[in-house]
Amino acid sequence: MSDKTFKLHNLDGSTISELPLVEGSMGPPAVDVRKIFADQGVFTYDPGFGATVSCSSDITFINGQEGVLLYRGYPIEQLAEKSNYMEVCYLLLNGELPNPTELEGFVDSITNHTMFNESLLRFYNGFHHDAHPMAMLSGVVGCLSAFYPGVDMHNAHDQMVFAHRIIAKIPSMAAACYKHSLGQPFVYPQNHLDYSSNLLNMFFSVPAEPYEVDPIAAEAMDLLFILHADHEQNCSTSTVRLAGSSGTNPYAAIAAGISALWGPSHGGANEAVLSMLAEIGSVENIDKYVAKAKDKNDPFRLMGFGHRVYKNFDPRATIIRKMCYKVLENLGQVDTPLFDLALKLEEVALKDEYFIKRGLYPNVDFYSGIIYKALGIPTSMFTVMFAIARTVGWVANWTEMMNAPSRRIGRPRQVYTGAVKRDYVGIDKR
Ligand code: CMC
Repeated sequence: MSDKTFKLHNLDGSTISELPLVEGSMGPPAVDVRKIFADQGVFTYDPGFGATVSCSSDITFINGQEGVLLYRGYPIEQLAEKSNYMEVCYLLLNGELPNPTELEGFVDSITNHTMFNESLLRFYNGFHHDAHPMAMLSGVVGCLSAFYPGVDMHNAHDQMVFAHRIIAKIPSMAAACYKHSLGQPFVYPQNHLDYSSNLLNMFFSVPAEPYEVDPIAAEAMDLLFILHADHEQNCSTSTVRLAGSSGTNPYAAIAAGISALWGPSHGGANEAVLSMLAEIGSVENIDKYVAKAKDKNDPFRLMGFGHRVYKNFDPRATIIRKMCYKVLENLGQVDTPLFDLALKLEEVALKDEYFIKRGLYPNVDFYSGIIYKALGIPTSMFTVMFAIARTVGWVANWTEMMNAPSRRIGRPRQVYTGAVKRDYVGIDKR
């Protein structure tokens, strides 16, 4: 809380009320409206929460106008270039970069939690082979709450075990979703492999023949995981906080986050980008689809474009674009019709007045979908990849909320627009 205040006119305009300001270390201050209902009898109205702060947090900072993204103060560009996903996980969870001993201990702990209880595998058999993997993933992660019911949410050791367990197990559980959809046997984690290589191995190897992980594929995966690791109070993270605020089992809160991530306006956008490119079909159709995206009477939107917070550029997209080229070059896919189409669409939209005026640029998911496609990950698994990466962000936010001095259940209010009070009418009179 700062000493500064924000002046607000009362409803009748007669007096000026002063509201306290809450200031962080960077970014705009927030007007503290907690007493406005009790003192003045009005709510604050902000559907979509575009101007609403739900918590204070030390984890991630975003400046959408300037395209800045910091994890615990470190710029995403530096982390993407110099760090790796395990180190970033440690940083997000603990607030500081690890020294070599701390990193070794952390990686060792994650590596030793990668298997999950064998009876959980039976849950997969209940799903039809074509069940969407996000439906399966939210289901099986929710089931973990039955395997680990007694988490003491305020105990630091329990919080740490929860964090390590879910970060370690989610790749194995995601790979099991994929294998189930193919009707192939589940491939157990290999603890001599790093996090991304282990995931690729669980996805693409089969017991019948040897498989070698492509190091460029693992490098691309690790980078994508860094870029997706956390993103402040986005839809799924806010969902994890809201669900967790009731004191529910933390695995159940993560399952809620997975469900929120699934939608095409959020994590499902990477899948939607590929469906959109398939629908557009070829470069000749781009103008027609760009016109559809601009038409207010047409629900079609250019998927992978625009962001609630970034209105100039998405710094993650700038980083990932380079990796996209590297992966496609490595795999000899630069000249494929799909990539051609994606680049042409990007070019047309970036020059179009409609997109420029509204600050609509390609976001991280425009390129992540193309990379996943090039790596042979099926389209329906793209959002699952995002969920694996974002798990650490959800956990870091859940833990921060649990340890905050003033945690209250999340409970927004509403402006009621239904029928005013009226008397019940018996069925014979209706
Ligand atoms: N294509 C065409 N028009 C768009 C698009 C788009 N992709 N995105 C926004 N607009 C228009 C929108 O119609 C509106 O126009 P007007 O001012 O004339 O009414 C204006 O731009 C502002 O849009 P909005 O819907 O008010 O913006 P928002 O902040 O509520 O939505 C968004 C942000 C990401 C949901 C939206 O841009 C969108 O639907 N994009 C496509 C889906 C997508 O790529 N999502 C992934 C986001 S990045 C990954 C993540 O962090 O989850």
